[in-house]
Amino acid sequence: MISSKHLLIKSIYQQKVDRTPIWIMRQAGRYLPEYLKTKEKAGGFMGLIRNSDLACEVTLQPLRRYPLDSAILFSDILVVADMFDMDLRFEEKVGPVFDKPIRNEKDFDKLPKCLDVSKLSYVNQTIKNIKGELKDSLPLIGFIGSPWTVATYLVEGNSTKKFTNIKDMLKNNTNLLIKILDMITKGSIDYVKQQVQSGVDVIMIFDTWGSLLSKDEYYDFSLKYIKKVISSINTNTPIIYYSRNTSNFEALGNMNIDCIGISSENNLQTIYELLDRKISLQGNFDVEILKKDNSIIKSEVIKTLDSFPYESGHIFNLGTGITPDINPDKVSYLVEIVHELSSR
Ligand code: CP3
Repeated sequence: MISSKHLLIKSIYQQKVDRTPIWIMRQAGRYLPEYLKTKEKAGGFMGLIRNSDLACEVTLQPLRRYPLDSAILFSDILVVADMFDMDLRFEEKVGPVFDKPIRNEKDFDKLPKCLDVSKLSYVNQTIKNIKGELKDSLPLIGFIGSPWTVATYLVEGNSTKKFTNIKDMLKNNTNLLIKILDMITKGSIDYVKQQVQSGVDVIMIFDTWGSLLSKDEYYDFSLKYIKKVISSINTNTPIIYYSRNTSNFEALGNMNIDCIGISSENNLQTIYELLDRKISLQGNFDVEILKKDNSIIKSEVIKTLDSFPYESGHIFNLGTGITPDINPDKVSYLVEIVHELSSR
């Protein structure tokens, strides 16, 4: 356990805080006009991610508007695909696309046998730029996707809601799926180490689609690989795990995770008690409430804060990423009211 002046890190370790820290998933994003401008200048989302100066700039944009308690690296979980020489592009209104997804052994055999993490060196430079600008005024969260969640995109080739191909592979070609998961795990270990070396203060692991798996599959195809990644990270780096709409929280008790990010379907107190108050929680305000009047936002913030009636161990956040249709003024109000209502 480390001691830190930062509220975010104190809360992760359930140390005394004078209010609940807050940051917003996807805080740098399309709801901010300045983000859209910078993205245009960069020639699109991938251009933005690969330009370390502009990626640093958009990381800082939400921090200039709001008194948030953390920065998060501006990048994407799918950039690891650079190590597999898989060409990632983002289509407006569609999301990530791989034109050559991995559907069979032949596709897999074409991928590089040796992974070269220096293909992601632009991320190191972004981290160094951000750290230089922050001057330790705030912590910086780095992140990866879980091998399973990344695999869903590499196999499907796009942001499907059906997951037909990966579900078919899980059932009928488990060996290939395991090879893919091993490859992503290997790459993720190198990549996460590189982020820590470059200066990130916290690692967040996005297992967005872990909830597609049944109880047994969840351990065998997601958690097992996350465990391997976690055991490669220095224990002084706090780890936040996020999954959307999970129901298997018990399985997370012995993963060496310091904090769990939960989506809006779950109740903070229920999960905290289920895990014997041992793991701090992040979340889980419903983003849709930000479309309502301030009076409703206020009463819903009270509900969320009341659902975690303990001294420390809660990081206020949304249950999912913020969407482009949110008015930035609503975020101002949210941050202000969380500061005010959580102060002790
Ligand atoms: O939170 C942050 O501000 C950090 C940056 C960040 C992004 N993506 C930027 C982004 C992080 C941590 C992610 C994680 C991510 N990326 C996840 C896991 C979290 C989650 O949302 O469940 C996933 C599944 C992805 C893959 C991905 N990236 C998808 C499916 C999409 C399309 C959907 C969408 O929201 O547009 C993206 C695009 C993306 N990633 C954007 C941003 C700011 C929007 C890109 C744009 O400006 O066009």
